[in-house]
Amino acid sequence: MKRTLSLPGLAYGGDYNPEQWPEEVWAEDVRLMAEAGVNMVSVNIFSWALLEPAEGEYDFSRLDRILDMLYCHGIAADLATPTAAPPAWFFKAHPEALPVDHDGRTLSYGSRQTFCPSSPAYRTAALRIAGELGRRYADHPAVVMWHIHNEYGCHNAECYCDTSAQAFRRWLREKYADDLAALNDAWGTTFWSQWYYDWDEIIPPRATGAVPNPTHQLDWRRFCSDELLSLCKAEREVLAQAAPAVPATTNFMVMYNFDALDYWRWAPELDVVSNDHYLRSTDPESEIDIALSGDLVRSLAGGPWLLMEHSTGAVNWQPVNRAKTPGELRRNALAHVAHGADGIAYFQWRAAKAGAEQWHSAMLPHAGTDSVIWQDVVRLGAELRALGEVRGSTGTAETAIVWDWDARWAMEMPSQPSAALRYLDLVRSWYEPLWRSGVAVDFVRPDADLSAYRLVLAPSLYLVDDAGATNLTSFAERGGTLAVGFHSGAVDENCHVRLGGYPGAFREALGVSTDEYFPLLPEETVGLEGGGTGSLWSERVRATGAQTVSAFTDGPLTGVPAITRHGYGAGTAWYVATLPDPDTLAALLKRASDEAGVAPVRTGIPRGIEAVLRRSPTADYLFLIDHLGLGAEVPVAPDAVELLTATPLTNGTVTVPPGGVAVIREVRG
Ligand code: GLA
Repeated sequence: MKRTLSLPGLAYGGDYNPEQWPEEVWAEDVRLMAEAGVNMVSVNIFSWALLEPAEGEYDFSRLDRILDMLYCHGIAADLATPTAAPPAWFFKAHPEALPVDHDGRTLSYGSRQTFCPSSPAYRTAALRIAGELGRRYADHPAVVMWHIHNEYGCHNAECYCDTSAQAFRRWLREKYADDLAALNDAWGTTFWSQWYYDWDEIIPPRATGAVPNPTHQLDWRRFCSDELLSLCKAEREVLAQAAPAVPATTNFMVMYNFDALDYWRWAPELDVVSNDHYLRSTDPESEIDIALSGDLVRSLAGGPWLLMEHSTGAVNWQPVNRAKTPGELRRNALAHVAHGADGIAYFQWRAAKAGAEQWHSAMLPHAGTDSVIWQDVVRLGAELRALGEVRGSTGTAETAIVWDWDARWAMEMPSQPSAALRYLDLVRSWYEPLWRSGVAVDFVRPDADLSAYRLVLAPSLYLVDDAGATNLTSFAERGGTLAVGFHSGAVDENCHVRLGGYPGAFREALGVSTDEYFPLLPEETVGLEGGGTGSLWSERVRATGAQTVSAFTDGPLTGVPAITRHGYGAGTAWYVATLPDPDTLAALLKRASDEAGVAPVRTGIPRGIEAVLRRSPTADYLFLIDHLGLGAEVPVAPDAVELLTATPLTNGTVTVPPGGVAVIREVRG
C-alpha cells in the first residue's frame, strides 16, 4: 500500500542547502520563502560530511535547527538521506569503495556520487546514516517525505571494479538459476570462443579489443539498474522501519539522455514518483520534452507525480548555458503541472556563492530579490496556490506509446546496422505530431494492459520478448490500431535475432516480411510516394498481406513498400519502414488516429497552443500553453473559470496571452 504525501494544494519549493550559508542568512531565507509561497523544500541532500564528522559520530544540531525553523515557518521538509555524497573520511578508510570506470581507471573522491554501487562498505555506511536520520526525525513535524539519495546513477551508474564483478556474477547466477549452460546459451557464447566454464570467468564488459557480446552488455545494464535499485530499496526499508507512515521518493531523470535505470522496475518501489527535468540549451523545441517527460513520468507513477528539480534559468553543465526567455520559467513550470505534476521544485533555493554549481540559476539568484527571476518565482508561487484544486487530478489517454529500457539499451549498443539510431529521438519523432495536435498520450511497457487504448504506437522496439510481442499483436487482433516503427521486433529478450524475416515478432500481424535492411547514410534521404521523404532507414519490405500505403520512389528500393497497413483480426496494424519527414509522419499518425477513433483532447485549438487535460471526479482542468508567442482565443465550456486569474468565462472563450498559459476549470455536470 503506497503512502501519500499530505500537503494542501500543490507543492512549491526547491533544494534548500542552508548549510552552505551562515545562519544569519537563514532568517532571510524563510522570510522570502513565505513571500514566494514556498511550502516544501528538500533538505540535507549533500550533508553527510557535516552530519557524520567521523565514522559513527554524529552532529545533528544544525539539521535540528533547520527543521525546527522550517516547521516554525510552516514549510514542510522533504528530508533527504545524504548518501549521494560520502565524506572524504569514508574513502580514506575504504579506498576499495571508489568506482572503476569502463577503461579500468579508479575514480577519485572530491565531487559527488563517486562510490561503487556494489561496495559493502558503502552500503553499510549509507544504511547507517539513513537509519540514524530516520530514527531521529521520524516524528519531526516538519518532515512530510523522505527523499532517498539523489538522482541514483547520475554519475556512477556503472562500476567495473572486482567487487562489482562479483556482484554481477551473483546477479547472473540468480537470473540463470545457477545454470551456466543457460547463460552460455542466452549469451550465444559459442561465437568468438566466449564460452564460460566457470562463473568466476565472467567479468563486467570492460574495455576490450573488439565488440563485446551484446547479451553480456545487456545483462550488465540490467544488473547495474538493479544494483542501484537494491540500494534504494535498502534505504527505503530502513526509513520505513523508523517511520512507517512517512512516504518515500527518489528523484528520477527520465530524460536528458540519461538512460541508466529501468524506471518501470523502480517506480513501484516508491510511494511518490518524482522527476528532475532540465532543458537542452541547443534545442529551441525542447518544450516538447517537458510534455514527453511529463507523460512518461505520469505513466510510471500511474497518476500525479512531483517535479523535484528543474531550473529557473541557466544550468551550469552544458557547453553554453542559455538563460530562459521572458515567460519561459512560468510556461515550463505550468507545462509540468499540465502533464501531471502535483508539485514544482527547483534546483535550488539560493544560488551558491562557492562550489561546483556556483553558476547554476536558482529561485533566489546572486542578484537577490532585485531580479526578474525572483519576480517570476513569486508570481509562480501565487499561481500554483491558485491551482491548488488540480492536485490529484490526472490525464487520461486513448493512445499509448510503447517505451522500454531493454529495447533502448539493446538498440543503442555497438555493431547495429546503423549507429545513428537514437531511441529517444525516434520516440520523440512520433510523439511530436501527437503533441502538436493535442492528442493525449500514455507510455506503456510492451506487456501492459492495453484495454484502455484505441491506438498503440511502437516507434522503436528493437527488442521484445514473446509475451510483449503477443500482447501488442493481440491488441490489434482484438480490434485496436497498432503502428510499429522500423527495426522493431528484431530480437528476443536475449538479443537473438528472430529468424525468417524482419520485423520478426511483428511479421505476421503487420503482414510484411523484410529480407534486408538498407540503412541510410547521415545526410541521405529517400523519396516516398505522396511527396514526402524518409531518412535514417529503409528496408526491402515485401507485403505478405498488408496493403502498401506509400512506396519508396528512388534509390535501390524504388517501388518497395515503405509504409504499410494490414487488416489483422478485428483491427489494423501499420508498419513504417523509414523515418518519414515530420509532415508525412504527422499525416500518417492523423490517419491512424482517425481510423482508431482517437480525438485530440479539444478540437479547434489554434496552432501553437498546447492543450492538455487533467481530470478530477467532478471537473476537467484544461491547460492551454502558447508556444509560438502569438496568443489566441480558445472556446471553452459555458460557466468555465480561468483559475490563474480567477476569472469566470461568461462568453464561452478564453484569451491565452502571447507566450502565456491559461488554466480552465470546467465542471462536469
Ligand atoms: C541534478 C542534481 C542537482 C544539481 C542539478 C543541476 O539534477 O540532482 O543536485 O546538480 O542537477 O542542474
